[in-house]
Amino acid sequence: MSLIMDIDQKTKNQTRIQRLKGLTDGTHRQLDQRIMSADPFGSRDRYALFLQVQHQFHADVAPLYARADLNALLPGLADRCRLEALRHDLFDLRGVEAGRLQGGVGTLDVAQALGWVYVAEGSNLGAAFLLKEAEKIGLSEEFGARHLAGHPAGRGLHWRNFVAAVNALPLSEADERLAAEGAKAAFRRVHALVDDIFS
Ligand code: HEM
Repeated sequence: MSLIMDIDQKTKNQTRIQRLKGLTDGTHRQLDQRIMSADPFGSRDRYALFLQVQHQFHADVAPLYARADLNALLPGLADRCRLEALRHDLFDLRGVEAGRLQGGVGTLDVAQALGWVYVAEGSNLGAAFLLKEAEKIGLSEEFGARHLAGHPAGRGLHWRNFVAAVNALPLSEADERLAAEGAKAAFRRVHALVDDIFS
């Protein structure tokens, strides 16, 4: 009982983003290990598989970045979308235009969509490490690994601006539970893509 109260108290003192992170830490760690064990930076062919995963995931979330209701809550959200950078990366590697993929998230309410967008935005923070790995196989922010680049104003600052905006939103506890569901669904989607594409 007292343990439950302690946990409750701890999450109440956390920010919304810290709570989302706490609820998805485990699935993130598994995903990170699963991706790295698939050797995505072992060669450009392996990296091309990683790009396919990213391409589908960012095609999934791109319609969310374009939503008017989400942009009203998070001004500038549309400019954060990395789908075009990914398509450019695919072109760099293959020399042909990538086909347009359908997004697969279905109809989401605002809070669920925020959870998905949290996962996509957070992945750009972790991308600093992935970019360093990509550089070892001759890729860069200008060739093949454009979608892993940080924002020109600074990767950390760009993330902190997003975090501050999400933390400031007037969401109810029920909304926040939906956001957490959305974030978990987004991670499940990426896990499934990694399993399909790398196996
Ligand atoms: C091998 C693959 C990956 C590695 C090594 C990795 C690593 C990291 C690292 C080191 C951070 C923390 C960065 C910091 O605090 O400065 C981070 C954050 C994050 N990553 Fe990943 N990541 C990987 C893949 C992914 C993928 C594919 C997704 C989702 C599509 C993802 C979602 C996130 C999220 C949401 C955060 C932000 C957590 C928060 O602070 O709220 N990551 N990642």
